[in-house]
Amino acid sequence: MSAEGPRRAMTPAAVRARKGGEPLVCLTAYTTPMARIVDAHADVILVGDSLGMVVHGLPSTLGVTLEMMVLHGRAVMRAAPKALVVVDLPFGAYEAGPAQAFAAAARVMGETGCAAVKLEGGVAMAETIGFLVARGVPVMAHVGLMPQQVNAVGGYRVQGRGADAERVLADARAAAEAGAFAVVLEKVAEPLARRITEAVAVPTIGIGASAACDGQILVVDDMLGIFTAFRPSFVRRYAELGAAAEAAVAAYAADVRARAFPGPEHVFPDA
Ligand code: KIV
Repeated sequence: MSAEGPRRAMTPAAVRARKGGEPLVCLTAYTTPMARIVDAHADVILVGDSLGMVVHGLPSTLGVTLEMMVLHGRAVMRAAPKALVVVDLPFGAYEAGPAQAFAAAARVMGETGCAAVKLEGGVAMAETIGFLVARGVPVMAHVGLMPQQVNAVGGYRVQGRGADAERVLADARAAAEAGAFAVVLEKVAEPLARRITEAVAVPTIGIGASAACDGQILVVDDMLGIFTAFRPSFVRRYAELGAAAEAAVAAYAADVRARAFPGPEHVFPDA
């Protein structure tokens, strides 16, 4: 199967070079229409494994497969000529060791045409990050709250409180020093986010991690009000598309029941 889409304007090196500069605009996307909208405004599009929950209705990201990531990665690549597209490596596809991670990354990059992958972990993944980077796989790391570890850590709590701050800082440092071109920081409080951003040489991209980061990322279905099963406290809703869709479907159902459907000679004023 071949890679999708034209060459990107943004590259991992260009993202890396934004350290301390203009904030990086990052958002997830999982489909072609959403990628088209996001690409016009974002530096980075993440095909996140959050798709398991927000698109496929799974209870966590743990059931996401490499096949799902490839399918959605290909859909996004068809409509994202500008942004750097990064595809998540799903749980179970990379943790066994560097060789497994390389096989997964090579498949994702080869079959989607994306230019980088993301994986969760810092200290524990440093060897794997170095192995991938040395073999031509740009890596975005993800530390702090790591949703793939939900069973091990017992939930989606704020990370790095008290003495635990040193663990999160060590993870970010290890990922950056191993060669990651950027580090996602999830759910850490502002003082720690600031410390990490000052300590690492690559951009930090925050999600629920305050403004003290080099960029921000959100799950697009959260910020558009499409995914409503739960709402992380840090998510600002920029639209209520879920409610708008529900009202539209209800109006359609009412029209059908009222036999209010015109023939081809009718022209709607807004058509
Ligand atoms: O899977 C995802 O969408 C992510 C972001 C929340 C950073 O990892």
